[in-house]
Amino acid sequence: MSEMLVLDGLTKAYNRGKPGEVTVLRGATLSVGTGEVVALVAPSGAGKSTLLHIAGLLDTPDEGRVAIGGMAMEGLRDRARTEARRREVGFIYQFHHLLPEFTALENVVLPQLANGVARREAEARARDLLGRVGVGPREGHRPAALSGGEQQRVAFCRALANAPRLLLADEPTGNLDPGTSDQVFGVLMDLVRGTGLSALIATHNLELAARMDRVVRLDAGRVV
Ligand SMILES: Nc1ncnc2c1ncn2[C@@H]1O[C@H](COP(=O)(O)OP(=O)(O)OP(=O)(O)O)[C@@H](O)[C@H]1O
Ligand SMILES: [Mg+2]
Repeated sequence: MSEMLVLDGLTKAYNRGKPGEVTVLRGATLSVGTGEVVALVAPSGAGKSTLLHIAGLLDTPDEGRVAIGGMAMEGLRDRARTEARRREVGFIYQFHHLLPEFTALENVVLPQLANGVARREAEARARDLLGRVGVGPREGHRPAALSGGEQQRVAFCRALANAPRLLLADEPTGNLDPGTSDQVFGVLMDLVRGTGLSALIATHNLELAARMDRVVRLDAGRVV
């Protein structure tokens, strides 16, 4: 299996050299194969979000390397990193982070427009995705008029809007009640399996983790 994501020897500290310095990652190494779905499990504060933000090019490590689709990300200038992120990576947050003033449909259309896709085509793709997660009839609603589970499903569609090869999800159902979380997680797994995407999904729910191909644990700043 070729590797879609390689994280090699990542270290990261916040407030470096200042009082209140926290070292979060201490040589974390992990790879995700093409089409593989990996669960990242760790207690609160262990560094799951930190690791995902680095993998998703939203933050940079102090040391270590990130490669996505076989391409090293260190040497890239800001603009090339932004383009790589837009093209290759879909990111799902624990809280949906949808744009409140736009409809569900627009939230899935906008990242495609930013990526140079024509509006008609972007709308067609957004409708297809929203239909697949069962939110089609509510495409004209703004996030505030959607339930938590519906908001999260729209966020999945937004993350997949530009057909990334790598999906990173940070407790994608963590703010939902257990029943809804289970159901919405099933929707996410169907989407991921249906597109052959590689994914790294942080969760503290061991039952959900068991539904993925492999489980890795973050412990004292390393992946074990
Ligand atoms: N911007 C920041 N400045 C200082 N410390 C931070 C910052 N972001 C995170 N931390 C600290 O780094 C550690 C790891 O945080 P992180 O958010 O990566 O953990 P997590 O595993 O995602 O936790 P949770 O399950 O609660 O989301 C925590 O101790 C946190 O307080
Ligand atoms: Mg977190």
